[in-house]
Amino acid sequence: MIFFFGKKKKKEEIVVGVDKDNVFGTMSPKGGVGKTSITVEVAFIIAQKDYRVGLVDWDLWSPRLTSRLLGSSEGPGLLELLLGEADPEDVIKEVSFTTSEGKVVRVHLVAASDKDALVRGEVKRLARELEDHYDKIKERAVALINYLATTHDIVFNDYPVPSGPAPAPFHRVAASATHWLNIVIDAVPTTAEYAARYVEMFYPSLPVYMVFVNMIKPVHYEYRAAVAKAPELCKKFAAKYVVFVPFDGKLYDVKVSGAAPPASVNYKPTESAALKVLRDAAMRLIRRDKPMGCVALHLKVL
Ligand SMILES: Nc1ncnc2c1ncn2[C@@H]1O[C@H](COP(=O)(O)OP(=O)(O)OP(=O)(O)O)[C@@H](O)[C@H]1O
Ligand SMILES: [Mg+2]
Repeated sequence: MIFFFGKKKKKEEIVVGVDKDNVFGTMSPKGGVGKTSITVEVAFIIAQKDYRVGLVDWDLWSPRLTSRLLGSSEGPGLLELLLGEADPEDVIKEVSFTTSEGKVVRVHLVAASDKDALVRGEVKRLARELEDHYDKIKERAVALINYLATTHDIVFNDYPVPSGPAPAPFHRVAASATHWLNIVIDAVPTTAEYAARYVEMFYPSLPVYMVFVNMIKPVHYEYRAAVAKAPELCKKFAAKYVVFVPFDGKLYDVKVSGAAPPASVNYKPTESAALKVLRDAAMRLIRRDKPMGCVALHLKVL
């Protein structure tokens, strides 16, 4: 662990949609960087410690969190809630996996929608509704998150990529439904630039808690070079933490259909380099540690 002193945001700049500070939204500027995987692993690491964890799949256009945890979904989800067709209590589903030691680990998931609704083009209807009833939809989203935040120890929102088909008002609704922003990037320098631009565009006033640099090539000089960028990333995002996660075959989810258990359920942190770092990050997330300046979390291979 290394400490850095970062740029402090002025207090009046921090305007958050959700007061309770146990709500995190995960964004990344490009697809496939590991946003959903990191959200899932961190959530299940925390759930294994018997905390109540809530997850919300905001990616109505490519609901990978839903398919990853449920295989396929039935019944109302976030889409129906935003359209005013379901209440918070109706959209929360329990998802459980059993560890190799026989412990049942549970989280609560708000799935994107039921599969049929996605096929029926209801997502397009939401895009139209956002034009006419933006405030009402935002109110429903914030009500759902406030409900989850008071009934759970921690809540994670998994957001769609800003460069995808989700319209701008949808991103603004999503941004108002979190307290903190977590950012997932890879070690390619332009990804951090894109992330900074999208944060400015869609999440301008949210405080950044963690920046995850994911899928770093698991060779020493690549990992060392990535970690050397910590002060720069701390400053760029005014983050509390920058977390360096190596590419790790144990996190690679090759299942194309059906629910796939998280690596943290199948493996111990000692068996996986990525889980080792993510466990450290997860424990700080649940405690909401607020270090002075900015802290880099990484493997001790330097
Ligand atoms: N640290 C890692 N090591 C190995 N594989 C990883 C790692 N992180 C993510 N992956 C794999 O990379 C792929 C993409 O990850 P994921 O679906 O989490 O990305 P995403 O950013 O959520 O993508 P999308 O834009 O589709 O939402 C998955 O197959 C996942 O298992
Ligand atoms: Mg995803």
